[in-house]
Amino acid sequence: MSDTPKLLRSLAGEPSAIPPIWLMRQAGRYLPEYREVRAQAGSFLDLCYNPELASEVTLQPIRRYDLDAAILFADILLIPHALGQKLWFAEGHGPRLEPVVTPETLKSFRDRDVVDILAPVFETVRLTRAGLSPDKALIGFAGAPWTVATYMLAGRSLKDPSSLREHYYKAGSFITELIDILTDKTIDYLIAQIDAGADAVQLFDSWAGGLPWPVLDAVSVRPLERIARSIKTARPNAPVILFPKGVGEKAGEYAAVKHCDAIGIDYAMDPSWARSNISPLKTVQGGLDPMLVVAGGRAMEREAETYLKLFHDVPYIFNLGHGLTPDTPPAHVAALIEFIRQDR
Ligand code: CP3
Repeated sequence: MSDTPKLLRSLAGEPSAIPPIWLMRQAGRYLPEYREVRAQAGSFLDLCYNPELASEVTLQPIRRYDLDAAILFADILLIPHALGQKLWFAEGHGPRLEPVVTPETLKSFRDRDVVDILAPVFETVRLTRAGLSPDKALIGFAGAPWTVATYMLAGRSLKDPSSLREHYYKAGSFITELIDILTDKTIDYLIAQIDAGADAVQLFDSWAGGLPWPVLDAVSVRPLERIARSIKTARPNAPVILFPKGVGEKAGEYAAVKHCDAIGIDYAMDPSWARSNISPLKTVQGGLDPMLVVAGGRAMEREAETYLKLFHDVPYIFNLGHGLTPDTPPAHVAALIEFIRQDR
């Protein structure tokens, strides 16, 4: 058997009796060893910008669970930070960014060289790749322009994205310009991650849900298509995974994006629909409700089995339908992985 990581074989279109497995937010507060390093680093951002410690927490879940892929430890909000917004994480309140972006602050963004400013992230990629065995893949990532823009415009996590739709209709050209800048910066950032050693990249569009079609197409599908195309043109061997959360059957529009290789599905998506409509076009990744991993036991195994059965004859990557939450018992994660890998 070649050393080609199982994840990359699946992204290249190869089905597998036991799918490769990794989990969104596999590194994080649910792991005691993460909490230890996080305390040593100081703040969450200090951890993101410390290549030795960030690489260490990237590798922790691989050591503990022997997962098929590591995902770079960083955050989607490092791009706004590199563009000059002040960023902090208030304990229990999620991220805060200041000042909120206005047409005046936008001007300074174009000239910012995110690849220069985010150099520690690429060092984390290099250190992690060096510490990872050749049969494991390293996934780089960025936020999708729309999701990143929502944080930049609201200064925090949105409770109700309808205010942004209103903003978009009133100031569409400004938001379009912001998304266009983020698209360019994200392309530079992901290519630099690939050059530092990332084997594949994933784009998280966590706030794509609930947008009416023409808006979704303009702010999410088209920018992601441009990112996928630019990456494939510059680095043809790097697979691109899109995770458009909450878009329902509009996921088919993302699957039709020529230069992407896989679509991450969220926990609200009917997996049978994904099997019929996405699998003919692209590798499917994920789906299992992270709350089932909090619950554990037979309910978790029964649902995991549903995904395994549905996707047994097509390329599939086992993952969740969103990230692991801090209250997840690590033993449930171990049980899930053991269940996926058992002979059947
Ligand atoms: O998946 C991984 O293990 C890799 C690392 C990773 C983090 N964030 C680490 C993190 C990845 C891929 C992300 C992506 C991310 N960040 C997204 C997209 C995915 C999603 O969850 O929808 C978003 C929207 C963000 C923005 C963000 N970062 C929020 C809203 C928060 C606060 C929420 C919370 O859990 O407190 C963060 C902080 C964050 N990013 C943490 C981690 C481990 C927790 C920070 C801590 O240790 O205190």
